[in-house]
Amino acid sequence: MVENPLTEGLERKPVDPTTLVIFGATGDLARRKLLPALYNLASDGALPERFNLIGVSRAERSHDSYREIVIDSVRRFSRRTPDDKVLDALFADVRYIAGTFDDPEVYSKLSTELDGFDQSANMVFNRSFYLSTAPEFFPTITEALGAQGLAQHSGCDVRIMIEKPFGTNLAEATALNREVLSVFTEQQVFRIDHYLGKETVQNMLAFRFANAMFEPMWNRNFIDNVQITAAEDLGIGTRAGYYDHAGALRDLVQNHMLQLLTLLCMEPPVSFSADDVRGEKVKVLHATTKPTAATAAEMSVRGQYTAGVSGGEEVVGYLDEDGVPPDSRTATYAALRLSVDNWRWAGVPFYLRTGKRLARKVTEIAVTLKPVPHLAFTQENGAGVQPNLLVLTMQPNEGVTLRLGAKIPGTRMRIQPVNMEFLYGTSFLSQSPEAYERLILDGMRGDATLFTRNDEAEAQWHICDPILEAWESDTTTPLPTYESGSPGPADADRLMQGGQVWRNI
Ligand code: BG6
Repeated sequence: MVENPLTEGLERKPVDPTTLVIFGATGDLARRKLLPALYNLASDGALPERFNLIGVSRAERSHDSYREIVIDSVRRFSRRTPDDKVLDALFADVRYIAGTFDDPEVYSKLSTELDGFDQSANMVFNRSFYLSTAPEFFPTITEALGAQGLAQHSGCDVRIMIEKPFGTNLAEATALNREVLSVFTEQQVFRIDHYLGKETVQNMLAFRFANAMFEPMWNRNFIDNVQITAAEDLGIGTRAGYYDHAGALRDLVQNHMLQLLTLLCMEPPVSFSADDVRGEKVKVLHATTKPTAATAAEMSVRGQYTAGVSGGEEVVGYLDEDGVPPDSRTATYAALRLSVDNWRWAGVPFYLRTGKRLARKVTEIAVTLKPVPHLAFTQENGAGVQPNLLVLTMQPNEGVTLRLGAKIPGTRMRIQPVNMEFLYGTSFLSQSPEAYERLILDGMRGDATLFTRNDEAEAQWHICDPILEAWESDTTTPLPTYESGSPGPADADRLMQGGQVWRNI
């Protein structure tokens, strides 16, 4: 069994006593993901024995009523049925601060609470600020933390974790980096991309760098093309306010999908330290051809879902979703053809696609190898020979499948594709932790390997900006549409080169 090089040893690395402050303490992300993740970490014995939680949010409420929200969130959304003893002990002394994020009084109360925890334990806790608010508050909160003198504290490590989206374009991301880095050092900053917390995403590195057999073929000489798919069957739910301004490219491509691309394409890092890994990933982004105004349309396709059937139920089209303007041109589907212009990957097309309300939920990377150079079989017998295909499935049915050609039993030499499969569910019997468990823990440990560095976030935007500009400046061409429950707009086929076709969704 191969150990994931990113987790090896880390579980045993202690997490220093910490006070975690969640801004946006009662928001959807906090309730569904962050608070249950804290419980599951505690239940695994992974949280430091001394751990404090402070929630900051607008509505007036007492510490006790916040504790009730915390406990209710864990009960509703935890992957495990909570043990009351662990739950009560973990959140016994939760604090809550009410106020708007630009109100200096919030920060002086916060300072008092932080100092109070230190004094009553007679020690200095590390401090982690988690920004789980709407993105417009990221600069406000950062600046206020700096102004109140909370960005450093003697005798402990102070860290800030920032949720996505990190800006909505390159200029905003650059400005946000400037603001954050005028208050904190880069070593203190942990930009979240929850895909990096997924076991299967980290396994890409184990798969590539803990096995001798793949690396020799991991290049343009053997690989014909790569398809990265992040398809979702759900629509936008109640998130129209956010989604209609974001769209598919900002929501999933700029962050999660480009992370998958870099992990797939990066050179072996010298070590698994945060900067060695991220340094290699940034090089991939720099090597990725930047679209221009002239090429953006040719290398990208967008689409918007119409009514259809999803999960056996009739669903409305995007324009009829609650809160979406009836004339919205927001893309709920995005597909790109990218190239990574370096020695290893020159000439290999990378096809990326993502969308809401597609036929099913699947996130996978499909690597198609080149065909064998010579077929010694007669044409009829060789009919079943297909290029090898390696599929890394991130979700669901997490695993790796390798398609091989095999002889069909019988007196004739006839070939048929067969699959060799590794499935997480059968090889590892324990349940994988949720992405946020790993990320919160690493953030508190100060290990930034699974977080986006400042230059990485900007390099991602360099790739997406020209496409967004091309899409947003075109206000007249009818937007391609696709029926809910389908594989996406037919227009996506035009991205394919050399007779390739999109895999079924
Ligand atoms: C989020 C996007 O970052 O990722 C959502 O904002 C999307 O729109 C989600 O649904 C997908 O994450 P996962 O873990 O379900 O693949």
